[in-house]
Amino acid sequence: MSYENIQVRTEGGKVGIVTLHRPKALNALNDALMDELGQALMAFDADEAIGCIIITGSEKAFAAGADISAMAKYSFQDVYKKNFISRNWETIRQVRKPVIAAVSGFALGGGCELAMMCDFIIAADNAKFGQPEIKIGVIPGAGGTQRLPLAVGKSKAMDMTLTGRMMDAQEAERAGLVSRVVPVDKLADEALGAALVIAGYSQISVMAAKESVNRAFESGLSDGLLFERRLFHSLFATADQKEGMDAFLNKRAPDFKNA
Ligand code: HXC
Repeated sequence: MSYENIQVRTEGGKVGIVTLHRPKALNALNDALMDELGQALMAFDADEAIGCIIITGSEKAFAAGADISAMAKYSFQDVYKKNFISRNWETIRQVRKPVIAAVSGFALGGGCELAMMCDFIIAADNAKFGQPEIKIGVIPGAGGTQRLPLAVGKSKAMDMTLTGRMMDAQEAERAGLVSRVVPVDKLADEALGAALVIAGYSQISVMAAKESVNRAFESGLSDGLLFERRLFHSLFATADQKEGMDAFLNKRAPDFKNA
């Protein structure tokens, strides 16, 4: 499959990497790019060999937001009728394998929202996160007002959303928006290392873990705990559970078959 707005490759036969690639517009996320991203993510998700996916951008920008030059012309009727942004921005929610955002440079507006749709964010020390939509007369439209408070709490989320200011990588790590910060020249290796670790585990338990953590954001504690317990129980039906525990007890490396 050839793409115009993204680049796609695999590493170690197990990790799928999508690089956002509209360098002249700081990877502004237009419709064509989001269509391609959705196709690439679904293809990696369907590929049995792939155990983890990374989305990344350039050193200067993960993505500077939805494409303002495209949006500037839209009317209410346009965006309401085509349900902008739901159609292609929500594809990522269907991906069952883990998706890591490796963020360098600007992750603003829809770019910050895309990073937050990923399962976790590894940031380069030059990363800058923000929801500056207020400065152009709108508000976040791809989950920013919902996921940012879940990640950093109400006060900081309000501050970011109402002032439009940017947060640097250190503040983002302190606030819990990102899981790790590394020097910019180490970002690709750090993300790939994490992805290879994940891809080395049983895909079944990895998908169950992702599903269960996500449940924490969509249910009350009692429902979430029950959901986790039932998934935990169901993993005892897998060969990978037998293999993983036997390997531990016999002091050897596990050989997971994703079964
Ligand atoms: C379209 C964009 C863009 C964007 C940058 N560019 N961001 N084009 N949409 N979101 C383009 C610029 O127009 C410029 O094109 C080129 O990329 C380089 O950008 P500069 O501004 O010259 O770079 P710099 O001075 O380094 O400033 C970087 C920046 C600034 C701080 C990131 O570009 C900026 O503020 N961008 C907009 C950020 C933003 O408001 N994002 C939220 C968008 S709304 P030319 O042709 O002039 O070289 C949004 C809503 C999401 O995301 C809702 C759900 C989808």
